[in-house]
Amino acid sequence: MNYQDLLYTAMRDARPAIGQGRVADYIPALAAADPQAFGMALATVSGEVYGVGDWERPFSIQSISKVFSLALVLAHGGDYLWKRVGREPSGNPFNSLIQLEAEGGIPRNPFINAGALVVTDRLQTLTGDAGITVRDFLRREAGSPALDTDRNVAFSEAVNGHRNAALAHFMASCDNLENPVDTVLAQYYAQCALSASCRDLALAGLFLARHGVLADGSRLLSGSEAKKVNATLLTCGTYDAAGEFAYRVGLPGKSGVGGGILAIVPGRAALCAWSPGLDSAGNSMAAVAALDAFTTHSGLSVF
Ligand code: DON
Repeated sequence: MNYQDLLYTAMRDARPAIGQGRVADYIPALAAADPQAFGMALATVSGEVYGVGDWERPFSIQSISKVFSLALVLAHGGDYLWKRVGREPSGNPFNSLIQLEAEGGIPRNPFINAGALVVTDRLQTLTGDAGITVRDFLRREAGSPALDTDRNVAFSEAVNGHRNAALAHFMASCDNLENPVDTVLAQYYAQCALSASCRDLALAGLFLARHGVLADGSRLLSGSEAKKVNATLLTCGTYDAAGEFAYRVGLPGKSGVGGGILAIVPGRAALCAWSPGLDSAGNSMAAVAALDAFTTHSGLSVF
């Protein structure tokens, strides 16, 4: 398999979608992102890394961080977490309030914002600093010691995060948070505002292609737990566009409103594509197009 050629082909096929869609502006610090930027990286389980375009340029990872926080909590056991958050697709926008009230403060899945707040809350209890735990995990797995939270983005999220605050307060009223709302929100913003490149994220996501094994050979998750994370990514990782993403790309994947998408080819590789223009569900149009082209040309989907 010539991965470098496949990435060039994917970039070529995605070119018409670059600049399409809308850059996220509900977090003002993200509105300045360059809509013409595009990068894609692939890391293999045998240790090779390939990239095209802006694959080494850091961007705001946003909801992609939710993959890592979930895995870090599940490493401590999932039984308790899965009582507090479900694992069904929501069929609603990632920041929707309506379903949460109807379902008694138990978020549908760990990737919508309400669910990620519960996961962050749990990680905060387990580690004492959820944001730093996610940051240090990314640093280690990517081999990027300077990788860090963009304080400007975290601040911008915090001052405009009325919906997240509403979700968190509602869950607190249902006794579904262990830590104070302000602590949970601050830790959640610290993880979402991490800056990393396609290269960093492909390397950091590789443990899910290695069935739970980390870069140093130690195990974070059992093979069965890694399967469950991948399954949840497939069904819930791109929100109410998860059906369309499965149809086009056919891989477990997680998007972020910074325009990145991390995708896993179990047993083989992790990929990250990035371009800031988003569709109405909050997924990067060019990143979806590039991943669609990659699996179409390579045959490397889970189907
Ligand atoms: O809380 C928020 O709205 C953002 N920090 C993360 C949202 C996000 O990335 C959704 N993904 N497509």
